[in-house]
This record gives sequence, C-alpha cells and structure tokens, in this order.
Amino acid sequence: MFDVEKIREEFPILHREVYGKPLVYLDSGATAQKPLAVIEMVDYLQRGLNANIHRGVHYLSEEATTLYEAARERIGAFIGAAEKEEVVFTAGATASLNTVAHAWGEKFVRAGDNILVSEMEHHSKKRHLSILKYFQYH
Ligand SMILES: Cc1ncc(COP(=O)(O)O)c(C=O)c1O
Repeated sequence: MFDVEKIREEFPILHREVYGKPLVYLDSGATAQKPLAVIEMVDYLQRGLNANIHRGVHYLSEEATTLYEAARERIGAFIGAAEKEEVVFTAGATASLNTVAHAWGEKFVRAGDNILVSEMEHHSKKRHLSILKYFQYH
C-alpha cells in the first residue's frame, strides 16, 4: 500500500509550514524537492568527495566513479534497462529531451512524420523539437 504520510516524512521541506499550514508542493516540474537520503548524499559529495568521475586516478575520483556506476546500475534495474549504460544522467528535463531529440530524433524522424505535443506542455519540451529539421510548429 502507498503510504503518503511515510513518504512525506522522508522530505524535510514538507515538515515546514507555509501561511500557517503544512506545505503542499506541486511545482516538481520546475524544482523537485529532495528526500533526506538525497540531501545527505549531496552533502557527502560536497564535503567528503568532490571529485570527477571517470577522470581522476586518485582515491576520491575512484570512489565517486564507484558511487556513480552503482547509481546507474540501481536505476537501470528499476526502469528495466538492459544494461546500466542505457542510463544517462543530465542536468534536467530540458537537457534530457535535447539529448533524445539529437540522438534519437535525428536518426529516426523523417519528413512526413508526426510528433504530437500537447498545448499544455512546458516550453522546454517543445523548444528542442525545433532542432529537428522536419519539425513544424503549428
Ligand atoms: C513544467 C516544467 N517542465 C519542465 C521544466 C524544465 O525542467 P528543467 O529545468 O529540468 O530543464 C520546467 C522548468 O521550470 C517546468 O516548470
């Protein structure tokens, strides 16, 4: 069973009040609130690691690489990826969709194909489709 209160407990920001009421946050498309596990890991990465993945040959860099690859593995298993290399982290939704538009769109979208995008979609989801030379914005 999906226990909303248990999940709310994991998000420190949801413990605060706004206008005298418990915070209800609905702007996750713009800024996702973080559960304590993420906040603590980011804190550790800043205070105790702070090294590049896949580049340095020193201890901190190797630890960063190990953590990064473990995250890819775990997320890959969660989303049903065939291998962890299918998991690519980006800075956000816009960068992700840009990557898909370039890598997948340029290869498979051709003149005459249709891409359906709801009018309600955020600008960031439509903008990068325009990089496809066949995309027409109606
Ligand atoms: C609804 C919605 N979708 C997408 C985005 C873009 O997300 P990102 O900043 O991760 O590229 C935003 C950013 O404000 C947004 O509000």
